[in-house]
Amino acid sequence: MSNENKLVSIENVVKHFDISGGLLDQITLKGGLHLKKTTVKAVNNVTLSIKSGETLSVVGESGCGKSTLARVVMGLYPPTAGEVYFKGDRIDNLNHKKWLPYRTKMQMIFQDPYASLNPRKTVRQTLEEPLRFHNPKMTLAQATDKIDEVMEQVGVDPAWIRRYPHEFSGGQRQRISIARGLILDPEFIVADEPVSALDVSIQAQILNLLMDLADKRNLTYLFITHDLSVVHHISTRVAVMYLGTLCELASASDLFHEPRHPYTRALLSAIPKVGEKKAKHVKMKGEVPTPVNLPSGCVFHGRCLYADERCSREVPKFLELENGSFVACHAVEEGRSID
Ligand SMILES: Nc1ncnc2c1ncn2[C@@H]1O[C@H](COP(=O)(O)OP(=O)(O)OP(=O)(O)O)[C@@H](O)[C@H]1O
Ligand code: SF4
Ligand SMILES: [Mg+2]
Repeated sequence: MSNENKLVSIENVVKHFDISGGLLDQITLKGGLHLKKTTVKAVNNVTLSIKSGETLSVVGESGCGKSTLARVVMGLYPPTAGEVYFKGDRIDNLNHKKWLPYRTKMQMIFQDPYASLNPRKTVRQTLEEPLRFHNPKMTLAQATDKIDEVMEQVGVDPAWIRRYPHEFSGGQRQRISIARGLILDPEFIVADEPVSALDVSIQAQILNLLMDLADKRNLTYLFITHDLSVVHHISTRVAVMYLGTLCELASASDLFHEPRHPYTRALLSAIPKVGEKKAKHVKMKGEVPTPVNLPSGCVFHGRCLYADERCSREVPKFLELENGSFVACHAVEEGRSID
């Protein structure tokens, strides 16, 4: 991928949380008195580039580290290791002041608009504050025009700007939080489960809106979801994550038609196909391990039907296949059958 094409680059990002608690919580008496640190290994060595104009979706089960990765990209968490770049500028190590210019270019939309919108602020206040903060010379008339334009783009009547979040339906509230994400004319949006809290009928409307906005505004999305069925039609590429690690990265069409990693196959098998009454569920053995005690070798080996001795010992490399997809799996690398 050429450098100019990369809008955001995530390089070898690791994010661990120390949840040891206070000194008393850390004391263990095993073979004498010791202090024991407890670390959640939420994201482990993730490398990913997001191309200008694409929608890159990150999918995986609850707790696999999707939101943590999104927060590291947005500068909300400092990474434990690794680097994040926006248009070639390193952004993971910036202080608050140096981050400000990137705030206008990179925005985030969250799952629950009710929680992410301030209930005590009208829509106008919610949209005007960031606008005025980042454009101190903007006149009141200019701000009003901008707010009206964005409200119309997200499909909410600008006449309602004096209302509070609780006066809107869930779908309308999510439209308003999208408006807040757009008000500074960003180039890049991280959408973390933006439709998961909505009724299925509303989900499609919001997804269509996001895609429409991408076209009109030439936006690039990092789209986070646990629901593979949501990403099929909106994604340019899809990255599959398991226990903080990337398993597969492929174009949406390759991923849905020819998934290569055993975990991707199992995830996809849970979605019923058109014409099928019930999904042909590929079973996984065992339970999802905790990110406190990561398995050795391939993190998926305890649940994988194709695991062998090498899998429990050696971390698989994220290798490029002939079709341009990337897969981290010894069986795929060795050409073993996983049908
Ligand atoms: N601030 C934090 N402190 C400690 N542990 C955390 C923190 N944030 C996340 N974690 C842990 O890191 C792991 C990954 O969490 P994360 O929220 O990134 O998962 P997720 O893939 O977004 O899940 P979901 O689909 O449920 O939103 C989980 O085990 C979670 O409990
Ligand atoms: S590396 Fe081994 S355990 Fe991991 S997915 Fe491939 S076959 Fe399964
Ligand atoms: Mg999450």
